[in-house]
Amino acid sequence: MTRLKNNNRIDKICAFVDKNPIAEIGADHANITHRLFENRQIDFAYVTDISKKCLNKAHLKLKKYSKNVVFLVGDGVEVFSNFDYSSFGLLPPKQIIIAGMGGQEIMKILQQKPSKNFDNFVLQPQNNVVQLRLFLQKNKFYIQEDVIAKDNKMFYNVLKVKRDNQIQNLSRLQILFGLTNLTEIGQDFKDYVRYKKSLYKDILSKKEVAEIREEYDLLEKIDLGE
Ligand SMILES: C[S@@+](CC[C@H](N)C(=O)[O-])C[C@H]1O[C@@H](n2cnc3c(N)ncnc32)[C@H](O)[C@@H]1O
Repeated sequence: MTRLKNNNRIDKICAFVDKNPIAEIGADHANITHRLFENRQIDFAYVTDISKKCLNKAHLKLKKYSKNVVFLVGDGVEVFSNFDYSSFGLLPPKQIIIAGMGGQEIMKILQQKPSKNFDNFVLQPQNNVVQLRLFLQKNKFYIQEDVIAKDNKMFYNVLKVKRDNQIQNLSRLQILFGLTNLTEIGQDFKDYVRYKKSLYKDILSKKEVAEIREEYDLLEKIDLGE
């Protein structure tokens, strides 16, 4: 089997999947769903994309598992709004994976009406993770796990999230850096802190920027245990 370039990101997403069936929203090549089948973590999946062309890539990748996949073209979780599971003898997805999209797009999908029917999510935003954490907190999603995955010098945030009926109490440090990163300090997070500190130090040496100063001072307070 050819090894994918961004294995660590996919491994961390898959590590948070503990339900079956799942839905991967915006699957493109469906590398995540493919890995879940190969790992025998799932035996059924809904695989969706807003682009038919992208979904065709998923069809090819999942050929071996096609009997156990429903492919749907459409925007976010709207694809489930008229989906009649019972007439096909199917169960709805128990965990929704939204990965490789911008944080704003993920927030938009979480606000779509059918999203209310789902309680468990694995999210991997490409950007705006702080805004996403604030959104999750405000909208009564409980962040169960929140880790960083490093792949080829890129850092990805991976969040396991559950709907709740109360607002989660998160510190400013947890909002900025992710709660699991701060309690189980791993190598990827250490690399992230070092990278951010050096980047911000460089910026602050040229110009004072209040938000960067705040984050830099908080980064200085993180005990990496070294
Ligand atoms: C970079 S790919 C990510 C693929 C895969 N989820 C992963 O993380 O490896 C992003 C995919 O999301 C799709 N997409 C973007 N916005 C979407 C939306 N609102 N609903 C469904 N798919 C969407 C794009 O067409 C694209 O195929």
